[in-house]
Amino acid sequence: MKKQPDPLEPLILLKQDKIKQYLIDDHIKLEIFENITSTNDYLKSMTITEPIQICLAEQQAQGRGRLGRKWYSPFGENIYMSYLYTLQKDINELAGLSMVATLAVMKTLKFYGILDHLVVKWPNDVIYKNKKLAGALVDVKANVQRMSKVIIGIGLNVNTLQVSNPFSQGWTSMRKILGKYIDRNVLSANLINHLTKYLAQFNQHGFSYFIDEWMQVEFLLNKTITVENFNKKIKGVVVGINNQGQLMLQLPSGNIQSFSSGDTTIMKKKIIQ
Ligand code: BTN
Repeated sequence: MKKQPDPLEPLILLKQDKIKQYLIDDHIKLEIFENITSTNDYLKSMTITEPIQICLAEQQAQGRGRLGRKWYSPFGENIYMSYLYTLQKDINELAGLSMVATLAVMKTLKFYGILDHLVVKWPNDVIYKNKKLAGALVDVKANVQRMSKVIIGIGLNVNTLQVSNPFSQGWTSMRKILGKYIDRNVLSANLINHLTKYLAQFNQHGFSYFIDEWMQVEFLLNKTITVENFNKKIKGVVVGINNQGQLMLQLPSGNIQSFSSGDTTIMKKKIIQ
């Protein structure tokens, strides 16, 4: 039987040396803060000295989610990580980036034994049994001549148990799923290693390299949904993801429309026969 989580277990805090001992690339600059407004905002405001810079925090006062939402960031419980990386890509080639980061998170979760019921929801949600487990948020810091400095923010619910968690949608955590407390040091290193590999592959091959991996776990595929984009709601059936990482929707007219951003909602009623 699955062990019930013990909410009184002591906190294991994040430590540089504990994380660094597991990193494959030892040139990464890693900073850890007890409290910060947002790890993404921190890297956005910093002068960049290294090709890869990572910021982790125990807590965020103003953690940001996609589409202007807040990201719940209580002290010492979860992963709030931002990863700064330089891509040889133009700004218009970055649509699939948050999806690539999401796939790296999936890889880490699978390593921890979370295999079944784990899906992605375009463009950046990791969902377990219909509940949100993680999300990615990409900010562009600079873009000059086919060179983009990007900040990839990852929020992963690790040890959070409280029922008062104010996520707007249903939420879950690794601890809830696995029934045990998780040391975020080893987990952070695992996630950094996967991100490093996935970002290098994205830099070299672009998003098309990841389409098959994404489609195997895309929750929205063949579902009738609405996409809310620039204050317009558009209905259709999800028929795939294109080479740029855009969501392809078949409209009631039969035409296909592609979206590079938007908020998706699954419809109960089918509108296309
Ligand atoms: C989403 O699913 O809406 C994306 C959530 C991203 C949250 C992370 S936590 C670390 C980084 N810093 C932030 O302010 N946001 C991202």
